[in-house]
Amino acid sequence: MCGIIGYIGHREATDVLIDGLKRLEYRGYDSAGIAVLNGRGIEMERAEGKLAALQAKIKKSKPHGKIGIGHTRWATHGVPSERNAHPHRVGDVVVVHNGIIENHAELRKQLIKKGCQFRSETDTEIFCHLIHSELKKTDDVGKSIQKALEKVRGSYSLVVLYGKEPGKLYLAKLGSPLVVGLGKKENLVASDIPALLSYTRNVVPLEDGELALLTKNSFKILNGNGKSLSKRVNHITWTPLMAEKGGFKHFMLKEIYEQPRVVEETLMGRIQPDSGRLILEGVNKLFGKKGFPFKQIAIIACGTSWHAGLVGKYWIEKLARVPVSVNLASEFRYADPMIGRDTLVIPISQSGETADTLAATHLAKSKKAKVLAICNVLGSSLARTSDATLYTHAGPEIGVASTKAFVAQLTVLYLITLELAKRQGKLSKEALITQLTEIRKIPQHLTKLLKSAAHIKEIAESLVNASHFLFIARGPHFPVALEGALKLKEISYVHAEGFAAGELKHGPIALIDEGVPVVALVPKNETYEKILSNIEEVKARGAHVIAIGDATDRDLSEKVDDFIAIPKTDYLLTPLLYAVPLQLFAYYIADHKGTDVDQPRNLAKSVTVE
Ligand code: M6R
Repeated sequence: MCGIIGYIGHREATDVLIDGLKRLEYRGYDSAGIAVLNGRGIEMERAEGKLAALQAKIKKSKPHGKIGIGHTRWATHGVPSERNAHPHRVGDVVVVHNGIIENHAELRKQLIKKGCQFRSETDTEIFCHLIHSELKKTDDVGKSIQKALEKVRGSYSLVVLYGKEPGKLYLAKLGSPLVVGLGKKENLVASDIPALLSYTRNVVPLEDGELALLTKNSFKILNGNGKSLSKRVNHITWTPLMAEKGGFKHFMLKEIYEQPRVVEETLMGRIQPDSGRLILEGVNKLFGKKGFPFKQIAIIACGTSWHAGLVGKYWIEKLARVPVSVNLASEFRYADPMIGRDTLVIPISQSGETADTLAATHLAKSKKAKVLAICNVLGSSLARTSDATLYTHAGPEIGVASTKAFVAQLTVLYLITLELAKRQGKLSKEALITQLTEIRKIPQHLTKLLKSAAHIKEIAESLVNASHFLFIARGPHFPVALEGALKLKEISYVHAEGFAAGELKHGPIALIDEGVPVVALVPKNETYEKILSNIEEVKARGAHVIAIGDATDRDLSEKVDDFIAIPKTDYLLTPLLYAVPLQLFAYYIADHKGTDVDQPRNLAKSVTVE
């Protein structure tokens, strides 16, 4: 969703703002703008479309100054256009905002009655008018912001630049992320860590309800009652290089290729295959030394993370025999879920900032459930809200389509499964050692699998003209099929659906016609024969079948139109491998079509509003 950057220090603010906005592009946006303050006043530039449009304007008249704010906007209220692009300004008050003001219509009417003139259709402009009105009564900017916030219902992260105070940036946060970056004689603020990495790795995330004042040499954080707070500075290990493309055409492709390393790093320090030991941060504190003190597990997540949760349910129920429900966070938060002290809630989120997942987690906490998060971003809102967090060490994921985060989430879920199975007395030490030995081999299997990229590209390119695709699978591969279909839809804008293969006859088989591509996930397990029958059924109706199966499965490879071979591993671990050809398949179709792979239309990397 929208991205925020603010700078105050010794550099040319415009350069820092544009650099920051570039690093926030992946969040998704449709217009952008900056405002810089200098001796002549406030200079603003805004443009509809990609950053290149804004840069072209800046080339003609570059705003100079050492303090400024910038924004990439993902339209919610008002069409994508220059006049709706941020920053918004009323008098000397300039604002960039992420989030949604729910009572904006009501406030707008009141402000118009008082004589305010609106220049945009955005909810954000309301903040400018409210703060501007308050500043007629007092010259205290912080208090004026506070008063304005009291009138607003909804979510926001806000950076305010006031033309009469050239050395200060004011910040406020409720429900939408905002992180302060502390440099040497310069300070920054951004909605997301990658925008800060070129300047500092020392960060302080703001909490809901907090306000902050940033100068080039200091930062002060206040709670809602005006009490000054002392904050721990987090040192981020991500490097600026990790947020670069590194020679790949797209971030998505780079991130697919990073998966062997991601799994390795996610396992690092957590498993000791020789002794059968698992070391999962915070788990002993949450579960106690032995046993499992909960009756049920509720997983909550959205999108790809939800698909990972579905695989997790299969694993946990199969190996540890603990009942698991997997819930879409957007539904869970408005349901009356049957959870309480007896429930372990596992929210899964790459960003840790997804609004629905956060709201669902707050609901779980209010019902006294314990929360063990799976998350990729250190110090994110989700990590701060949860009782314990198991981090996926995927590094920054920039491509909007989640790839490496999914495989990292599966890795953590598998470790949780083994821990639970051990605690439930369902797994002998020998079996645990075998599992840990097998999972440690996953990075090398992934490396081998990535060598089939050229073959997958060939298959994908032969099917670019198909207008819809079916993905079929059974057991833990059904969610992987859903994930494969989601990847294809989101980056290539082609219709694709994932189905449990056994459901075909209950309706979806009507979609099969001459040449319709059906991607079938066919690992060797107890349902192998069943899915072979499903393949026969769709083939008999003219489908073009692309099967993904065991490298040694000659029968399968001879039966189908295209075949992708998967290296041999323990059956339960195969979802970690089967996901990868599906990512590559979607990538090559989208790339061939020439879509914006890393920032597909209408999508945002983290959905921080409802
Ligand atoms: O950051 P999160 O994992 O909470 O994000 C959840 C979904 O928005 C996300 O997985 C989305 O579905 C991806 N773009 C899919 O590739």
